[in-house]
Amino acid sequence: MNDFNYRHNNLYCESVAVEELARKYGTPLYVYSRNTLVSHFRKIKEAFRPINPLICFSMKANPNQSILRILVREGSGLDIVSGGELYRALRTGVSSRKIVYAGVGKTEKEIELAIRHRIFLFNAESIPELELVNKIAGRLGIRQKAAIRINPDIKAKTHKYITTGHGDNKFGVDFDTARKIFLDRRKYKNLNISGIHMHIGSQIVEAEPFVRALKRLTGFVKYLEARGVNIRWVNIGGGLGIIYSRERPQTAREYAKEVLPILRKLKANIILEPGRFIVGNAGLLVTRVQYIKETPNKRFAIVDAGMNDLIRPSLYGAYHEILPVRSPSYSGSKKIRVYDVVGPICESGDFLGKGRKFIELKQRDLLGVMGAGAYGFSMSSNYNSRPRPSEVMVDGSAVKLIRRRETYEDLIRAET
Ligand code: LLP
Repeated sequence: MNDFNYRHNNLYCESVAVEELARKYGTPLYVYSRNTLVSHFRKIKEAFRPINPLICFSMKANPNQSILRILVREGSGLDIVSGGELYRALRTGVSSRKIVYAGVGKTEKEIELAIRHRIFLFNAESIPELELVNKIAGRLGIRQKAAIRINPDIKAKTHKYITTGHGDNKFGVDFDTARKIFLDRRKYKNLNISGIHMHIGSQIVEAEPFVRALKRLTGFVKYLEARGVNIRWVNIGGGLGIIYSRERPQTAREYAKEVLPILRKLKANIILEPGRFIVGNAGLLVTRVQYIKETPNKRFAIVDAGMNDLIRPSLYGAYHEILPVRSPSYSGSKKIRVYDVVGPICESGDFLGKGRKFIELKQRDLLGVMGAGAYGFSMSSNYNSRPRPSEVMVDGSAVKLIRRRETYEDLIRAET
């Protein structure tokens, strides 16, 4: 599944020892495997080859320019949600005809910039947004393509913060509103509204909710077509889950096997927006044990990475496997102990893992937090005035620094 493996009890990323990377670049440190990244993109591409969709990597999962460039060179488009993501996207050299733009709160400035750059498709999430996009497109004299994001009212089994396709969520519009928009579409003179978008949530490990949502969607497309509305693009979003612990997520091929028969019935071109599936398992966060602290109730491994570097455990209670970078061979004399792996941040919610078993850890040991490639660095912050970590990309035995560690000066650079 990924290119992080032990060789002689030493954790490697492709052909490079993680220990060496930690020594050279310091910790905390994000380490990515180029091969894992590319192979996951290819897995999706391969699985959907029969319908040749446009795959737009959801760059919120990891917007580092080196990562984007690798994927863009593989043929990926980009799914953006802000002016900042548009800026990053354009710098990768991606064709603007492969950029799709979602988000419930696009500002006038962001919309204008995106239209000026001739992005492919707006995924509009409300009527007032459509009206604004229409107005700005008119002002610029550009006819803009738009898709309507539908909220299919599906409950997907995932964390409540990352489900997006349920009726209570802020995303998209209900079928009834979408129907009105499509039947009234001539009102939006500067728009070509002929796409439908959905994204039902993230880290979804089974095909069933996708299938349920897609069936509703195709029924709707048929309804529209019967009324003379031509749907040319159907964007089925991202959301494919990955392995963090013991879950057995569908593979790209299994997912495609379930949804292809439904998609094939459509005349429209298909767009996919996977994020986590492509980059999640391609990254780990290396951290060093600063102290071992035993209290009457607990044993803590206090490490140098905190919730500002990787917030998923704190925010979602997400599980990330934590592996010793040098795994001592087990012998009778070594004790297995249970630790809470916690960061240095001044919050009790600052932990990377709780109740984890390791062969007795000691100060300065290195740990690898797995599955940190998606929503890891991209959700990091400077909380507690901690400079954000470096990121390195490993390609075989070659290593490239793709983001340097922030300095203290970086912390105050924008302050006046
Ligand atoms: N398309 C849209 C419109 C989205 O909102 C998202 C993710 C994606 C695609 C990509 O979803 P993916 O394939 O990565 O599941 N921070 C959370 C995940 C939030 C996902 C937000 N939207 C986490 O760390 O689990």
